[in-house]
Amino acid sequence: MTQAVSRRDFARLFAVGGSAALFADPAWTRLAAQTAPFTPGAGASSGESFWKSVREQFVVPPDLGVLNAANLCPSSRPALEALTRETRSVDEDPSPMNRARLYPEKEKTRRALAEFLRVTPAEIIITRNTSESNNLVSNGLDLKPGDEVIVHADNHPSNFVAWREKARRFGFTVVTIEQKNPHPGMEYYVDAFTRAITPRTKVLAFTHLTSTVGDLFPAKELCRIARERGVLTMIDGAQSFGLLDVNLADIQPDFYSGSAHKWPCGARECGVLFVNQRAQERLWPTIYSAYTGAVGFSQTFEGFGQRDEATMIALAEALAFQAKIGRAAIEKRSRELTQQFLTGLRKLPGMKVWTSPRPELNVAIVSFLPGTLDAEKVAAALYEKERIGITTRTGADRPGLRASPHIYNSPQEIDRLLAGLSKYVKSGV
Ligand SMILES: Cc1ncc(COP(=O)(O)O)c(C=O)c1O
Repeated sequence: MTQAVSRRDFARLFAVGGSAALFADPAWTRLAAQTAPFTPGAGASSGESFWKSVREQFVVPPDLGVLNAANLCPSSRPALEALTRETRSVDEDPSPMNRARLYPEKEKTRRALAEFLRVTPAEIIITRNTSESNNLVSNGLDLKPGDEVIVHADNHPSNFVAWREKARRFGFTVVTIEQKNPHPGMEYYVDAFTRAITPRTKVLAFTHLTSTVGDLFPAKELCRIARERGVLTMIDGAQSFGLLDVNLADIQPDFYSGSAHKWPCGARECGVLFVNQRAQERLWPTIYSAYTGAVGFSQTFEGFGQRDEATMIALAEALAFQAKIGRAAIEKRSRELTQQFLTGLRKLPGMKVWTSPRPELNVAIVSFLPGTLDAEKVAAALYEKERIGITTRTGADRPGLRASPHIYNSPQEIDRLLAGLSKYVKSGV
């Protein structure tokens, strides 16, 4: 165990009401024993040695390369430690006194989220995940027959099916912009959404970065166009939160959503909904209960009942860890690994790559059909033989496999993935 971490964390544990029994817990001892402090040093400019030190901040075994960030990221060590520590603390001491200590922590997370997204804490709602955030918007707006909501066909169900079902209930109309593959260019979507807006349009709901093939959307431009026409904007940020250096003060949407367990490398069951000050009076709460937030919109909108503060504290730690790495460096690293993979993939015979080859249109999600090979078998073989975890995409829409590299992945893992694919292309799987 390294001195720096053990002294600091153990002192903090005592300070926050932990007990001696905590130190006897084998899970905690194991975790603490493995911990090395993260010191950014010269940062990303120092190259692979820096990224190796980032990798050490994840408990995924060194021989396993999981490239599935678009679905689920491992929690970074600072997040995992906070989650473990605070979960255990509440179970050891569920007294009102110990619990009361945690409420201000929720507000600290709100402030951390606001800083991360460059907005104010008064505009931040802490939710359970992106799905919940998206549905709080489609559920909470007063929409009626004659109103229109414009969505993109490639939106996630929580921002697509949700609107369709609520349209059935409340009588408004959903207008769908069709999906094009490969990415037709930013201008195409700016034009398509602009032309779809009518005097009846109330909301424009799109995805910042699609989970299907990693298409990047012209978020700022779409928000500007909508704002100028008095239309609300809902950005699903599940795939941009914690990957791109998202600046909501610049993009200016009305609503933006994200999940902690994806690119931020927080823990599960924590998410964010940004509600722009100017849109707050338009959004009804879906849930009325106790334990609201302490500032701004959260005082009326976030009465979600009892929560798990441990996962919120873990998110604040995850965001602080990302800030130490550097937000721009995170995006750059994921982009470089993606380009390495795309370049290698294009050299393999028979691969049908769904993701745009243009680096300005994709970020860190690559989907492809592995020729005539069975995608399920390829994914299973990659996992068993190469120790590489990627996911399958089933169904008729751009099926096959999807790899989404993040800061804990390495160029060697990309090479291993490519070598595995190359082997299966040559000799079957
Ligand atoms: C674009 C997009 N929106 C929403 C979601 C839902 O996220 P969650 O399951 O964390 O609610 C996902 C999950 O993959 C997604 O990719």
